[in-house]
Amino acid sequence: MANTDPLIKANADVVCQVLKPARPVPDIIEDARNGLLSRPRTLPPKYFYDAHGSDLFERITETREYYPSRTENELLQRHARDIIASSNPDQILELGSGSSRKTQRLFDACVDLGHACNYAPMDVCEDMLLQASQELSGKYDWLAINPIVGDYHAGLDNLPSFTGRRLFVFLGSTIGNFEPAAAQRFINEIEKCMRAGDRLLLGADRVKDPAILEAAYNDNDGVTAAFNLNVLRVLNRELHANFVPDRFRHRAEYNPTHQRIEMRLVSEHEQHVHLGRLEADIKLQSGETILTEVSHKFTPESLQALVTHSGLTLQEHYQADDDYFSLILAHK
Ligand code: SAH
Ligand code: TRP
Repeated sequence: MANTDPLIKANADVVCQVLKPARPVPDIIEDARNGLLSRPRTLPPKYFYDAHGSDLFERITETREYYPSRTENELLQRHARDIIASSNPDQILELGSGSSRKTQRLFDACVDLGHACNYAPMDVCEDMLLQASQELSGKYDWLAINPIVGDYHAGLDNLPSFTGRRLFVFLGSTIGNFEPAAAQRFINEIEKCMRAGDRLLLGADRVKDPAILEAAYNDNDGVTAAFNLNVLRVLNRELHANFVPDRFRHRAEYNPTHQRIEMRLVSEHEQHVHLGRLEADIKLQSGETILTEVSHKFTPESLQALVTHSGLTLQEHYQADDDYFSLILAHK
């Protein structure tokens, strides 16, 4: 029978639940109005992740220069059994789950330990959620998967309720893509969703040699550049805009004051862009930039403070041998 519930989207045998916003969030028109019509020009990062952008992100994680995914995966591989044994989850709920590739280390540990749980991946990119869910059900036939599509900036109050023990997972240093105050608010919000006995597993990238950081966002094959430029195609499609991606170039630089990578699109010429659905035109000077992403880097102290300031208790801080990346396990 055809599925007529507007809150359920299906593809083959996987069904996505839609997360109802707990508070209004600006739509792409409002975001573009706020971000592109004022100076400095900015865009929220969630628009990177259309189907093509999510594929490109997956390719970034496979580049030689982008160490965070590799390092986080190794950390998970090393500690997954500990994490599962000590948190004993009935459900793993992952925010911004993307391809769920690294999360597989947790499911591997479940297999090793004979532990059963279900998995609720949550992401703004529905195509990636469906693709990941299909891959997981092929690999882990015991795993019940309940994907949730939505925007975590619209609040977590309407996440499906769950009576068992939950392990909340937030990987990939996505927390670093929030402004510091927003990062604190978000961890506070996760804490509010948690009940006694629940755990949070948080992955975050560390402050290190700026050359290594900058290389990670300037891979030689230009995958990160393609990912950054892809947001212009999203704007063309969604806003009926006429950006010419060839007239922009990717730039990623470390800002030591803010301890963050700043990613921009640089206008290579003076140019006019029409934003159809905004009924606006913008004039970009040659060299003018659009800030498309910030990626904050953490010290052990700043990361632990982020978690403990929310009221959570630090349980473990797993650190890579080279101190490149951290995984924090905390409980309520
Ligand atoms: N956790 C994965 C993916 C990290 S990339 C990993 O570590 O490799 C960031 C992920 O967050 C993407 O899958 C993107 O689609 C998702 N995302 C970005 N903004 C979001 C938002 N506002 N709400 C929900 N998911 C979001
Ligand atoms: N959370 C990832 C990070 O900050 C996201 C990311 C990696 C990213 N590479 C990127 C975002 C390139 C924009 C462009 O490392």
